[in-house]
Amino acid sequence: MNILITGGAGYIGSVVAELLEQQGHRLVVVDDLRDGQRAAVVPSAAFHRVDLCDLPALRAAFACQPLDAVIHLAASANVPDSVVNPLAYYANNVQGTCNLLECMREHQVKRIIFSSTAACYGDPQYLPMDEKHPLRPVNPYGQSKLMDEQILRDCMAAYGIRFVAFRYFCAAGATAAHGESRKCETHLIPVVLDQALGKRDKVRVFGREFPTPDGTGVRDYIHVLDIARAHVLALARLDQVAGEVFNLGTGAGYSVLEIIAAAGRLLQTPVQFEFAPARPGDPPNLTAACAKAQQQLGWTAQHGLDDIIRSAHAWRLAPAY
Ligand SMILES: NC(=O)c1ccc[n+]([C@@H]2O[C@H](COP(=O)([O-])OP(=O)(O)OC[C@H]3O[C@@H](n4cnc5c(N)ncnc54)[C@H](O)[C@@H]3O)[C@@H](O)[C@H]2O)c1
Repeated sequence: MNILITGGAGYIGSVVAELLEQQGHRLVVVDDLRDGQRAAVVPSAAFHRVDLCDLPALRAAFACQPLDAVIHLAASANVPDSVVNPLAYYANNVQGTCNLLECMREHQVKRIIFSSTAACYGDPQYLPMDEKHPLRPVNPYGQSKLMDEQILRDCMAAYGIRFVAFRYFCAAGATAAHGESRKCETHLIPVVLDQALGKRDKVRVFGREFPTPDGTGVRDYIHVLDIARAHVLALARLDQVAGEVFNLGTGAGYSVLEIIAAAGRLLQTPVQFEFAPARPGDPPNLTAACAKAQQQLGWTAQHGLDDIIRSAHAWRLAPAY
């Protein structure tokens, strides 16, 4: 297939592209490199440095080749930042998605896989959260993604653009070729590993009074390769599962203190940390129920927390870029 990947210079997009490239697909990457890196774009892909909010430039990228499908990962995706700068998140995540769908409509591209998020759920009403859990985002980032999901539904009804939306929980881990290399890293596992490697000061643990067993926030960490594999399965089944939303997680939640302890155990180095006030917009616990992806896509996570930490550690020791 000819597949256009937005955000293919970013963390998850580079691994999705890596897997699709291995399967022989022809790839076009659209990314403006605001958070991604040119070196993360897989070698065989045609690359367009384009901001999705620039509709004429995006149209030009679409005009370069016929396309069978789009995988849409480009977004602003930092939860605490979205609380402070909500307009930037709505502008990028909602307008960018509208422009992309407009180009798809104009060019008759009828398949899209969308990167949504567990942040659509908000504070847990029950755990683990399945796809029927109430959708009450507690930060503008989650709200912007939920709006995108609705826009996709409307475009499917109006234009016949078939979509699958994946609500990723916490992506982590690396392959040998691609990993997390953000200019400013805020995700827990890379931050913890960098502390253990002596590359940064104490880890700040935001909040110790959540209603969780040890009082720190609980998240479901999913290996980035498992996420990428779900995209391959969804591409093959998109005509059967169009219009569906799937959680991608493992069903196991780990608290911040458990992640710090697991990294210390695997690396045989204590991780230094200190407590800091809870951040607005952080739900106490996001843990996925993933039966739907298993039943309809034949997908289950194959990697556990140790794999995630080991692969991420190898990447941080010797990143390819
Ligand atoms: N990392 C996670 O744990 C996680 C969890 C849930 C959902 N997601 C979603 O997965 C997707 C990828 O996340 P990631 O962690 O790889 O983030 P990332 O920041 O590493 O990658 C996003 C990429 O999109 C690009 N981008 C952003 N806005 C753009 C625009 N307007 N035009 C062109 N390119 C643009 C950035 O330059 C970057 O390369 C995002 O949509 C995010 O919301 C991520």
